Amino acid sequence: MAVKSFDPATGRVELVGALAEPPKQGERVVVDFGSRLQSGRKHYMHHCMHCHGVTGDGEGPTAEYLNPRPRDYRLGIFKFTSTPNKEPPTREDLHRTIYEGIPGTYMPSFALLEPEVVDAIAEYVRWLSMRGVLEKELVEELGVNGLKFSLADIEAEAESLEIVHRAAVKRWEDGGRKGPAPEPPTSREAIRRQRLEEFQEFQNEELAGLVDDTGDDIARDWTQAELLATAILPDEPHTPSTPESRARGRLLYLRNDCQNCHGLTGEGNGPLTREFSENTETKEQNPTPGLFDVWGQPVQPRNLHSGIYRGGRRPLDVYRRIHAGISGTPMPTFGSKLSDAQIWDLVNYVMSIPYEDMATGAEPPATVADDGEAEPAEQAETAALTTPGAADR
Ligand code: HEC
Ligand code: HEC
Repeated sequence: MAVKSFDPATGRVELVGALAEPPKQGERVVVDFGSRLQSGRKHYMHHCMHCHGVTGDGEGPTAEYLNPRPRDYRLGIFKFTSTPNKEPPTREDLHRTIYEGIPGTYMPSFALLEPEVVDAIAEYVRWLSMRGVLEKELVEELGVNGLKFSLADIEAEAESLEIVHRAAVKRWEDGGRKGPAPEPPTSREAIRRQRLEEFQEFQNEELAGLVDDTGDDIARDWTQAELLATAILPDEPHTPSTPESRARGRLLYLRNDCQNCHGLTGEGNGPLTREFSENTETKEQNPTPGLFDVWGQPVQPRNLHSGIYRGGRRPLDVYRRIHAGISGTPMPTFGSKLSDAQIWDLVNYVMSIPYEDMATGAEPPATVADDGEAEPAEQAETAALTTPGAADR
């Protein structure tokens, strides 16, 4: 039996070949996506492993020399997606990253590969990432459940029992040794045995369920990301890039403190690039001044004069970066704070910055900023959201 087609929007799977028995209502069926993953794995090993590592930890042999570092997929965090901040990417987002590469970084374009090969590799990247997140969440769950097995934990528990015991003995002696002497504390060996028993019980009764539930939750997140309804699509079409719009954008840039990171004139050298920041997880001060990402690497705010947009250079792409921020980096989300029209003004301003360097009075070329010249893909997406019912497709 094999999968003929799969529609992520409806979750409908079309199968070819026969099952021994048709599945009953409500029954869980495991479908073998294996061959696609195997093909994805083969191509991943050939094209991606030397940067992104065998397990997707971003530690391939070449990685050390690169800045920014290749993505560690295991946190499930991707920067350049059409989905809201920290949501998993869609298959299309991954396809696009692989096909186009990430301009201004060492992530190359694989436009020469067959689209099916790119899809298979994207599938394998999703798998690596889901597996990484599952492992991380299980480790956290096990910690939360109070299952402490390390020697240090057992040592600490035995020690605190001994302190309590010594205090009880002292009270008993001071009180003239009335009644029975306090019981000796549980031995380290007994604590170890007890923990092992608890763990075995947990393993037999709860672990499988925990793995299943956690896995289901993660799979649901990734499936939901595929639904068009979650994609960031502005309700208002791209405002034409007029001098007025760009001036409003400049004001918004200053009012929303973009300059703290990107600098007053957009060189990417704002004051936060010189101050010490703290690690978002451990709250410890980072080793060097400036901003850091969740992977623990220093990260520069973009120099907006470069005209290089890592997440794509369509106005819609830049809109998404400002709306959702860039996951895993300090670039914040502005979608909840600013209206669509305001974000478009910011897009128009930001995309005009590279042209400020030209002779004064130079206008940004229409192809970049003018809505009429927008690329077909963007027009289709913008049209999709103004057409009633399009979101239900
Ligand atoms: C020469 C090294 C190199 C190779 C080879 C490479 N990558 Fe990357 N990749 C990178 C770097 C560097 C980044 C991070 C760029 C950034 O953070 O802006 C990256 C980022 C990514 C991302 C994250 C995109 C996001 O939105 O966060 C994906 C997905 C990815 N690569 C997939 C692949 C796949 C699949 C292959 C093989 C077909 C591949 N890469 C080959 C260097 C490489
Ligand atoms: C706290 C610091 C910080 C603030 C505030 C900030 N940014 Fe950023 N921004 C970053 C960082 C860091 C990056 C680079 C992230 C990466 O690609 O790794 C970035 C990247 C960008 C990019 C590049 C997108 C691309 O595809 O390459 C744009 C455009 C941008 N920011 C615009 C803005 C605007 C507009 C504002 C204010 C409304 C703003 N930023 C506020 C830190 C910040």
